[in-house]
Amino acid sequence: LSLQPTIFIIFGGTGDLNSRKLAPALYNLYLDGFLPQQFTIIGTGRTKLTDEVFSEKLLEGINQFSRRGKADEAKWAEFSKHVAYQVSDINDFETYKEFGRRIDHYSKEWNAKPNVIYYLAVSPNFFPVIAENISKAKLGTDTERTRIVIEKPFGHDLESSKKLNALLGKIFDEKQIYRIDHYLGKETVQNIMAFRFANSILEPLWNRNYIQHVQISVTEQLGVGERGDYYDGAGALRDMIQNHLLQLLCLVAMESPVSFSADEVRNRKVDVLKAMRRFTPDDVRLSAVRGQYAKGWIEGKEVPGYREEGKVNPQSNTETFAAMKFFIDNWRWHGVPFYLRTGKRMHQSSSVIMIQFKDVPHYIFPTETAESWQQNRLIISIQPEMSIRLQVQAKRPGLNMVLNTVDMVFDYKGTYTNDAPEAYETLLLDTMLGDQTLFMRGDQVEAAWDLLMPVLNTWQSKTSLSFPNYSADSWGPEAAEALIARDGFHWFSLPLNGKK
Ligand code: BG6
Repeated sequence: LSLQPTIFIIFGGTGDLNSRKLAPALYNLYLDGFLPQQFTIIGTGRTKLTDEVFSEKLLEGINQFSRRGKADEAKWAEFSKHVAYQVSDINDFETYKEFGRRIDHYSKEWNAKPNVIYYLAVSPNFFPVIAENISKAKLGTDTERTRIVIEKPFGHDLESSKKLNALLGKIFDEKQIYRIDHYLGKETVQNIMAFRFANSILEPLWNRNYIQHVQISVTEQLGVGERGDYYDGAGALRDMIQNHLLQLLCLVAMESPVSFSADEVRNRKVDVLKAMRRFTPDDVRLSAVRGQYAKGWIEGKEVPGYREEGKVNPQSNTETFAAMKFFIDNWRWHGVPFYLRTGKRMHQSSSVIMIQFKDVPHYIFPTETAESWQQNRLIISIQPEMSIRLQVQAKRPGLNMVLNTVDMVFDYKGTYTNDAPEAYETLLLDTMLGDQTLFMRGDQVEAAWDLLMPVLNTWQSKTSLSFPNYSADSWGPEAAEALIARDGFHWFSLPLNGKK
C-alpha cells in the first residue's frame, strides 16, 4: 500500500464519535501497520486541553470501545506521540491559519508534502462554516492531497442535500469529498459485492425469473439514548432508510460494474436508485408504515417510551420505526418487491438480508412428506452473526420420505480465525489511500432523497397519529406485518442465541 505522510485534523475532537469510533479505528490501524511512518492526529475543539489530557481522553475511548479492548502501554506511548490538540473556535478564521502553520511545520519536519484529512465529526450545521474557512485559508486547494470527510445527515431532504452538495462542490472536487455511510465499511456488507460478482453460480438466478421477493431488515434493541435532539428532527426514514438500508438494497440489486473502481461501482448503484418506482400519495398509504415505540421491558430492564426520552418533544410524531415496500422498474427486477424495515427498541438487534426464491414449479412428493416446507432462501446476515446461509430442502434420514429445510452455511466464525476490522478502520484507511468506492457520491445522496421525498411529504402532512404504536421488545407496529402479509409473506428474522 502506498501510504503518504498524513495529518488528520479532527473537528469535534473531544466528541463522542472520536472517542467511540475514530480514535479506536486509528489506533487499530496503527497496530496493524496501516498508518504511515509520518502521521499526526490533531484534535480540535472549544474545550481548553493540553495535548496530554487530550490523548488521555482518546485512550479512555480506546480502552472502552476498541474491538481489541485495553491498549498496551508501550504501544500506546508510541502512538500518543503522534497526537496533538488545538483549542479553537471553528467560526474563527484564526483557527484555520493555525492549521496552516501546523501543516507547514510538519511538511518541513517530514520534508514531504503531507496528505491532509479534515474529519468533520461535528453537527452538520457547522459543515458550511468549516468548508468556507478551509477555502478562505486556501487549505483545500491541493486536490490530490487534501480530503474532507463528513458524516450524515447529508441534508434533511432533497433541497437541503442539493444545497450542501453545491456548497461543498464550490470548494472541493468530488474526489476530495468522503461522505461516510459506515454500513458500507462493514465486512459483511463489503462481501455482498464479492459474493455476487466473484461467483458465477448466482448471477443466472439473480433476477425476477427466480427471485420472488427480497427483505432487508435492520432492527435495534437500543432506543435513541442521548441523541434525542438529533433524532427527533430526523426519524427512522432519514436516519436509516435514506442511507444504510437503501445502500444495502443497491448492493443486492445493482448490475455488475465493469470494474471495481469507485465511479463504476457508484454509477451502478445510482442506476438502481433511479430505477426505483416513485411513490404516489396512495402508495405511501399502502406501502409505507411508520411507528413509534412505547415504554416496556428489554431483557428484564424497564425502558422509557420514545416521548419520554431526553431531548425529545413529549408530543413528538417522529417515527422510530419504518417499513416500506419498493419496486425497481428495470428488466432484472420488474415485479419483485423489496421490503425494508428498521426500528429502534425492537425484539432483536440484527441486520439481515433475505432473498426468497420462487417455488418449485411442481411438487412431486406427497404433501404430507413436507415437514417444514419452504422455498429456497439466501440469508445474508450482516450482524451480529456474520454469515451467509442458503436454505434448501433435504430428505431427513429415515425410512420414510420426509423433507425438511436445512442450511448450507458460510459462517465467518467457523471459517476465519482473524477478527474482522471495524467499519471505521476500513473507511479511514480508504480515505488515506484515496479510494472512494465505499463512500457516498453526491448524486447517490440526492437520488436517495429524491426517492423518499413523496413519503416524507405525505408523512409530514398527516400528524394525527396514534403514536406510540408498538411496545419495546416487539417487532414493530401491526400495520408493518399487514404490509407484507397482504402479499402472502412474513417478515423474516434469524433466530439468535435461541431468540426468535
Ligand atoms: C447510525 C444511526 O447511522 O446507525 C443510528 O444514526 C443507528 O441511529 C446506527 O443506531 C446503527 O449502526 P450499527 O452499526 O450499530 O448497526
